[in-house]
Amino acid sequence: MTVKVAPSILSGDFAVMGTETVRMQKAGADMIHCDVMDGVFVPNLTFGHKMVSDIRKYVDVPLDVHLMITKPERYLDKYVQAGADRLSFHIEATSSATENLMSIKNSGIKAGIAVCPETPITDIFPLLDYLDYVIVMGVHPGFSGQKYIPETTERIMRLAEEIRGRKLSVEIEMDGGANENNVRMIAGAGANIIVSGSCAFNSPTPEKVIAIFQCRD
Ligand code: DX5
Ligand code: ZN
Repeated sequence: MTVKVAPSILSGDFAVMGTETVRMQKAGADMIHCDVMDGVFVPNLTFGHKMVSDIRKYVDVPLDVHLMITKPERYLDKYVQAGADRLSFHIEATSSATENLMSIKNSGIKAGIAVCPETPITDIFPLLDYLDYVIVMGVHPGFSGQKYIPETTERIMRLAEEIRGRKLSVEIEMDGGANENNVRMIAGAGANIIVSGSCAFNSPTPEKVIAIFQCRD
């Protein structure tokens, strides 16, 4: 069992974000997770596409951009141009999910959908044919350092079962509340990618945290 780890720069020092992403890449990060928040879809505000294009110059690993903004269709092109390798938006934030996914895929990068804890996981099922990955939120989006919502594990299992049953190759990314004690359970449920905000960034030895999160046998 191995998983990819995506440290979230939401927990980094925004004043020196280039250095922070290099620190995570050196520690073994498989990708860098960029949390874009608009203060409307979620009660917090972070950064826009300029941050993504600026950190693109610092690291080689893929940039995994997670949009927590209303009507993401307004900005998809900007994040593609900024150098995102993977781009996701929330199913709750748009009424044109399929069109958005097609637009991202036509740009030549991976397309994902994120789903909040209170949204039925089955809402994603009609979109699976258009998706490269699903972000299953383990917390209510907006802040790092929150406690993992236990029902998330069951939701990942249900989604993994659906993906297997339909013989698709959609990745499952778990975002929020992961820690050294629950990562193996989350990976065992079917998550291929795990986001780490506070655990990776707040540790004096992020390489150790990332190695544990990678669940190498
Ligand atoms: C929450 C963000 C997460 C967050 C994860 O809205 O989408 O990416 O940074 O942080 P931790 O791992 O601390 O829960
Ligand atoms: Zn995120």
